[in-house]
Amino acid sequence: MLGLGKLAAAAAAVAFGANAALGGWAVISVENLPETLQAGSEYRLEFTVRQHGEEPLSGLKPRVRLKGISASFPAVAAAQPGRYAATITVPQGDRVTLVVESGWGRGRMAELTLMPIPVLKRGQALAVQRPADRGRHLFVAKGCGTCHINGDVPEFAAENESHKLGPELTGRRLEAQYVRQRLTNPRSLPAIGDGAVRMPDLGLADPEVTALVALLTAPRESATH
Ligand code: HEC
Repeated sequence: MLGLGKLAAAAAAVAFGANAALGGWAVISVENLPETLQAGSEYRLEFTVRQHGEEPLSGLKPRVRLKGISASFPAVAAAQPGRYAATITVPQGDRVTLVVESGWGRGRMAELTLMPIPVLKRGQALAVQRPADRGRHLFVAKGCGTCHINGDVPEFAAENESHKLGPELTGRRLEAQYVRQRLTNPRSLPAIGDGAVRMPDLGLADPEVTALVALLTAPRESATH
């Protein structure tokens, strides 16, 4: 039988999400998120699967599927550990929603649904996203929402599950240099909370960092599209 103290400790662990810190969950991060896709043309989408955001998971059989369309593409291992590539082709239409299935874990925890991506017809001009908008798409595609609640990016929560293991980012307007350091060199800063799960280094490219910084530092109005 559990003593009262143990029961209270178990309840506290649930309240703070520490149970999820131990369970089978992974962070899926897209490495080359396209701003647009061309109907009928191949695109090689790369992504990394990391257990608890840290440990690259190799040997999986992931797939990428197109939501609402019966099309699914197998991914093969890429050069880096835990990284995979799927060559996808999207049909004509306004937009397409990609779902990355890691092949690890169960249910919504095993997938990452991206924000809809505009599909261009051949020869159509490329729309350029503003940095904060690019940041929102990246916030979803990098799996940031797997750990952080962010009400400014409701698209993540609508489609995916958050484990609430990092500080809530809703309405936060942080200092740019600080955000950059948290993203590119997280271990150079102290833990927030009990440190059971730390902010991971997801190997972000510089333009991705710039876009995410724009999202987390911009006034809310400029991040609504
Ligand atoms: C595996 C879980 C996890 C993922 C994935 C993750 N974070 Fe974090 N993040 C944390 C934790 C935990 C902290 C608190 C710092 C620490 O203890 O390392 C943190 C801290 C932060 C902070 C500082 C917040 C504050 O209150 O000062 C920012 C900003 C941040 N993360 C942004 C992001 C972004 C953007 C992404 C996606 C590119 C991301 N995080 C992905 C867990 C995560």
